[in-house]
Amino acid sequence: MFPLHRGRRLRVNESIRSLVRETALSPGDFMFPMFIAEGESVKVEIPSMPGIYRRSIDLTVAEVRELFDLGIRAVNIYVKVDDSLKDNTGKEAWNDNGLMQRAIRAIKTACPEMIVMPDVALDPYSIYGHDGIIENGDVANDATNDALVKMAVSHAKAGADFVAPSDMMDGRILRLRQGLDAAGFHNVGIMSYAAKYASAFYGPFRDALDSAPKEADVVVPKDKKTYQMDFANRIEAVKEAVWDVEEGADMVMVKPGLAYLDIVREVKNAVNIPVTVFHVSGEYAMVKAAAEKGWLDHDAIMMEQLMCFKRAGASLISTYFAKEAAIYLKNNTK
Ligand code: PBG
Repeated sequence: MFPLHRGRRLRVNESIRSLVRETALSPGDFMFPMFIAEGESVKVEIPSMPGIYRRSIDLTVAEVRELFDLGIRAVNIYVKVDDSLKDNTGKEAWNDNGLMQRAIRAIKTACPEMIVMPDVALDPYSIYGHDGIIENGDVANDATNDALVKMAVSHAKAGADFVAPSDMMDGRILRLRQGLDAAGFHNVGIMSYAAKYASAFYGPFRDALDSAPKEADVVVPKDKKTYQMDFANRIEAVKEAVWDVEEGADMVMVKPGLAYLDIVREVKNAVNIPVTVFHVSGEYAMVKAAAEKGWLDHDAIMMEQLMCFKRAGASLISTYFAKEAAIYLKNNTK
């Protein structure tokens, strides 16, 4: 008998393929990252991210309603802060009436069932473009944690469902959990960016928020490598994720996505809480640019990438493709 195995029997037609398919995608798997700006009726496209905009709160709310109708249940939100509000302490981050806090309130009022996850990190508020407070030429870990706790509590007061610390300071998950509990926010969850790598894939995001590390009057690190992880490392990601579980994280994230699917799987196998993945700005830009040139089939590539995140072990995918993919699923699911 030859061949001994005929794997193709399970691929004969779409019906059998659909019966044996191991992974499925739905709009509920996606979280949509949104950039918020001051003003009214503001909608500015990010040059390096075609189809992605910085919107004022009013237009953000309208967009959130559309996303909800498409089946998307979570948004990650980031703000573009005016330069005049930036300093080294990042204190605008816990202004209860700041842009982020107003955005959270507006979204939760208009669409209470949408899960809102504001980003917790100081970079949009830092004159130096770093995720924490600069002291003696580096980001000061524990002083930054004090600031992050104030920031997270302020987000919780505004109505955030989860806070999403993306700063990579040591010990911040425990500090945030204690701070939220002490302020009475036991039900506000923490989605930890547990394994966040120092990656060049974040370039377009830093354009969107004008948050790249900057030249300064004092000594500051030129990049984020003293806190974000070295992309040569794998075991370290497991260590960071396990620590965050011990400290009280409700979900852990791996970031970036595509080049890090081994890490997604490794972390998935190591922890017993949901693993999320961030399909970051540079990954989005690459697909858009190649599709614009006619070099790739945009929709096919988009859906393949998203499916592969789930196959790798991600329960949730934060992706700038969330809306387009939800529309695709609506039009193509029979
Ligand atoms: C900052 C933050 C970054 C991203 C999310 N939060 C950028 C950075 O660390 O410099 C990147 C997201 C993306 O590229 O889409 N705390």
